This record gives sequence, structure tokens and C-alpha cells, in this order.
Amino acid sequence: PRPILLTRHGESRDNVRGRIGGDSMISDSGELYSKKLANFVEKRLKNEKAASIWTSTLQRTVLTASPIAGFPKIQWRALDEINAGVCDGMSYEEIKKNMPEEYQSRKKDKLRYRYPRGESYLDVIQRLEPVIIELERQRAPVVVISHQAVLRALYAYFADRPLKEIPHIEMPLHTIIEIQMGVTGLQEKRYKLM
Ligand code: F6P
Repeated sequence: PRPILLTRHGESRDNVRGRIGGDSMISDSGELYSKKLANFVEKRLKNEKAASIWTSTLQRTVLTASPIAGFPKIQWRALDEINAGVCDGMSYEEIKKNMPEEYQSRKKDKLRYRYPRGESYLDVIQRLEPVIIELERQRAPVVVISHQAVLRALYAYFADRPLKEIPHIEMPLHTIIEIQMGVTGLQEKRYKLM
């Protein structure tokens, strides 16, 4: 059975500044992760000629994939981070202070809450359907370099986690989650590279 490797992009400038959304570059620490990830992937998938690297269309995932050599890279808009609409570029503190009702509604029902002019987790889950179909069709390993909310949804699908848990699943930076379907169910390994 072929493994699927899930990882967030290396730390972004916006992660450092505590801002959500956007399309920022990666930080120095994010760049270090991209190199460690390349090393890991090239070793782990050494004899996997048909493997591929999937990213979102946002700079931070494309930059994180860039040091990986020897595999085709595919960009999916469906792997872009949850669209925070009018809150894009804000910090959680700014949202809490300037849009307290929005902040509270999201806190109350993070799964269904839709950012004004943006998306909800349920929207993200829905747009991931073609990605999931394609992932299940693959016979070779795939490395998915994406974002916190999107990876929570993807991981939950394969790990069979209930919908209501999705927005709260821990999805740390600089960590690879390797999943593999075995006869006894899902096998999971985590590699914290930094
Ligand atoms: O902070 C990084 C980030 O990827 C944001 O771009 C995004 O809005 C957020 O995480 C999603 O996580 P949560 O749903 O917990 O706000």
C-alpha cells in the first residue's frame, strides 16, 4: 500500500506575525524546514518513481516544495487554505476586538461558521472532494503540502474522525504525518523534523 505524507508548509512570515490567510513567503525557519523535508522525502521515496508532490497555489506551499528534487509537482487550488474573507490578514486578537460577534459565532460553531465573503470548514471539506477522489485513485505515494484547516479535513477523512472534531485537530508546523491503509486499518507515523 502506498503512503500519503501530509505536511503544512514551512513557517510563513504571517505565522510569525500571527496573521491568518494571506499569501506570504516563508520565514528563515520555514526555509530550513523545506530543506529538511526535501531530504526526508528524497530518502523516504527513493525507489518510488511514480510518486508526486501536491501543493496549494499559495507561495508558502510552493516554496516549501521547491527544494524537493526528482518528483513532479502539482498545484491544486482546492488545497489552498480556508478563505477567511473579510478577516483575511487579521490576527485573532484583531478579529476579537473589531468584530466580536464574528469571533463569538466562530467560537460557538467553528465547523459551520462561514467568514463573511469567505469559507467555513464545511465549505473546505466539500471542495476537497476531487482531491480525495484523486488521492484514492493514486497507486504511488503522494506528498501533500498544504495548510492547517485543509490538512485537518484531509486527515480526518482518512483517519475516520467525526466532523465535529475536524476544526480542533492538532496540526503542528514542521511535522510530517504519514498515513497508509493497511489490512488492519489506518497506519500512522509522525515525524517531527524541527
Ligand atoms: O494561522 C494559520 C492558518 O493556516 C490561517 O491561515 C487559517 O485561517 C488558520 O490557520 C486556520 O486555523 P483555525 O481554523 O484554527 O483558525
